Formats: sequence, structure tokens, C-alpha cells
Amino acid sequence: MEKILIIHNSRFGNSKGVTQTIFEGLKNDFETKIDHIKDIDFERDINGLYGLIIATRIISLRPNLEIRKFIKKIDSYRKKTIPKTAVFYMHEMKWREHFKKGMDKTLGKLNNIKSIYPNYLEVTVDGNRGSIMEGQERKINEYINNLKIFLKS
Ligand SMILES: Cc1cc2nc3c(=O)[nH]c(=O)nc-3n(C[C@H](O)[C@H](O)[C@H](O)COP(=O)(O)O)c2cc1C
Repeated sequence: MEKILIIHNSRFGNSKGVTQTIFEGLKNDFETKIDHIKDIDFERDINGLYGLIIATRIISLRPNLEIRKFIKKIDSYRKKTIPKTAVFYMHEMKWREHFKKGMDKTLGKLNNIKSIYPNYLEVTVDGNRGSIMEGQERKINEYINNLKIFLKS
């Protein structure tokens, strides 16, 4: 089975929760793993990766800088392109397309992350510590179903 790594740097548990839902959706079709970025061993986890899924928290109107720095490191470590990448966003405020701009910029500059799933997911949390707002499940599940098609294509 192809290897998929779902990465996050969740602080209050909400983005980690969504990574777990995605994990459940993918685990029968892919060798799937979830990791906090601080626990990733490049040799063990990044070599041989087929797909990378990035949980991104919106902090001060922008995609969190730590996770952006981390994916830049992956790019300089990996010699071969990661075949498939997807991003999803966690936020508290009403979603604005420009929130994701910094992540688009980061991804656009990388050499080894190229095929990026265009239909990103954004999940709203209640207050700046969460929990996940009611009514987000349907869109999360729809995202997972479409993501599977992208990953298999
Ligand atoms: C310091 C701070 C700044 C934040 N700034 C924003 C923001 O500008 N826009 C927004 O929609 N959410 C903002 N949030 C809410 C975060 O997006 C939310 O806490 C995060 O996605 C939760 O993820 P976690 O539970 O996995 O840590 C902020 C949260 C914190 C703690």
C-alpha cells in the first residue's frame, strides 16, 4: 500500500481531531500515519512517502508559520517529488480565501511538492481554542471522499 503521512502542529486538539477523521477515511486504502511535526523523523517518515496531508492552523490571519517552515525542510530533504499533497485549514473567523495565501506561496516555491489537491478544506472552530463548530462533519466527509479519488488518480 502507498504511504500517506498526515502532519499537524495542533495546540488545542482541533486540527489533530480532523487528522484522525481523515486517517479513519484513508486507512483501508493507504498505509496512513498521523504525526505532530515535532515527532517526525525524516529518514523514517519522509522517505518513500506517496502522499502528504498538511493540517494548517490560521494564526493572526495567516497560515501558521511553523508548519510552513516544516514543509520547506521536507522539500530540501526529499530528493524525489512527493506524488500527492493536500492541505486543510482550521480557523475561528469567517473564512476568507486570502487566509490561505501564505501557504499557497510556500507550496508554490517548493521543488518536490507539485501535485496539490485543489479542493482544500476549511474547518471552523468555536473561539480560538475550539471545539469544532457544528455542521462541519458533512463537508469533512465529502472532502475525504474526494481526496481519496485524487490520491488514487
Ligand atoms: C494566537 C491565536 C491567533 C489566532 N488567530 C486567528 C485568526 O487570525 N483567524 C482565525 O480564523 N482563527 C485564528 N485563531 C484560531 C485558530 O485558528 C485555532 O485556534 C486553531 O485552528 C485551533 O487548532 P488546534 O486546536 O489544532 O490547535 C487563532 C488562535 C490563536 C491561539
